[in-house]
Amino acid sequence: MKRIILAITGGIAAYKSAVLARLLVKAGFEVRVIMSQGAQAFITPLTLQALTGNAVHTELLDAAAERGMGHIELAKWADIMLIAPASANTLARLAMGMADDLLTTVCLATAAPVLVAPAMNQQMWQHPAVQLNLQTLADLGYQLVMPDSGEQACGDVGMGRLPEPDTLLVHVEHTLARLTVPQVLAGRHVVITAGPTIEAIDPVRYLSNHSTGKMGFALATACCNAGARVTLIAGGKVQLPTPLGVTRINVLSAEQMLVAAQQYVKGNENWQSVIDDDPHDHHHHDAPLLDHPPADVFIATAAVADYRTRQAAPQKIKKTQDELNLDLVKNPDILATISAEFPNVFTVGFAAETQDVERYARGKLTAKNLDMIACNDVSRSDIGFGSDDNAMTVFFRDQHDAVILPKASKGEIAAQLVGLIGRHINVRE
Ligand code: PMT
Repeated sequence: MKRIILAITGGIAAYKSAVLARLLVKAGFEVRVIMSQGAQAFITPLTLQALTGNAVHTELLDAAAERGMGHIELAKWADIMLIAPASANTLARLAMGMADDLLTTVCLATAAPVLVAPAMNQQMWQHPAVQLNLQTLADLGYQLVMPDSGEQACGDVGMGRLPEPDTLLVHVEHTLARLTVPQVLAGRHVVITAGPTIEAIDPVRYLSNHSTGKMGFALATACCNAGARVTLIAGGKVQLPTPLGVTRINVLSAEQMLVAAQQYVKGNENWQSVIDDDPHDHHHHDAPLLDHPPADVFIATAAVADYRTRQAAPQKIKKTQDELNLDLVKNPDILATISAEFPNVFTVGFAAETQDVERYARGKLTAKNLDMIACNDVSRSDIGFGSDDNAMTVFFRDQHDAVILPKASKGEIAAQLVGLIGRHINVRE
């Protein structure tokens, strides 16, 4: 059974914490609640005790509590901690590293990941002091769950609403899932292309292919779970939800995908360094407030349309003739361009082949100057495009033997590919 500390601080959103506590219990967590003084003005410890079946912790120096489960035991007991809602005052106190009440002391004393879900009035949220504290918390390794925007209890409209309990639960489970994964990409920035591209013929028609983006999105999740910061460039009109913690950029055509890939691989000059994730320390952050660093790894899963129309027709083409010839020109090769422009980036290609898979894959490895290429046989209908499964043969620049990944879900294949990428980049350095 997973153990969570739910810490509640003073704010009207504290009423949602009761629902959250119940949801966590239903999801199989053992829940212990810490309430600040402020929280108790909004909701009673008795409510949380009844919902969790455990006494609620409120005092740092309470002889009775210390005999049961003192602050250090509590800090050690937890697999994860969630502060929801986290008031502006709590953010400031955590940013300062204070330890003058139970909540702040446990935050300092725990090795478990701490998720912080701020909630406050929108004007308070915008205050530079609050924003500065959020930045500090991200740098310190706290994982921020950003508030929603919308109508607030006080009547204002804006940023600062506590996300709904089921969203908070998703964040908790996502963070726990990451804890079991070796952090082979900790501190790395990975840029991934996914899905098809679509090339306009006229305002209503286009050329494209059957890629759904599933493979690329599974890789984005796997890279993120392995500790990487991930930018996912999704082409065409990929319908999949964005994996948690991943930055998603939507583009349509190959030309747009190339521009986005160059920009995100190059990095933004204004990006601020953050404390690198330590593989032994499970504090992760998605750094939502920061710009992006240069990429360490580029993975091209996108099925890029090889050709586009020389010029998309400005108006819908009328079906007056029996025949229509499209004048097509070759699209830029995104992967080859990135590998040529950024020789220090570890480049991973995919190869979708229907015949002579190995020969073509090795050919692309050399021609595009890649570090690694993962090859799927798309002539099989049970794997490859669209399906939930895949099977791959992987070839490397610096290793003679291929690695065979037998048929498995795209999620599992992605995790195995990330293991291979991690091993090769860490050996290379
Ligand atoms: O999206 P799904 O439905 O989950 O399907 C997954 C997939 C089958 C699309 C995926 O596993 C896959 O094989 N992607 C590569 C498809 C492909 O176009 O392969 P290719 O052999 O044409 O290209 C080789 C490599 O060069 C690929 O990494 C491709 O992204 C890249 N490329 C190709 C052409 C181009 N103009 N620019 C590129 O970057």
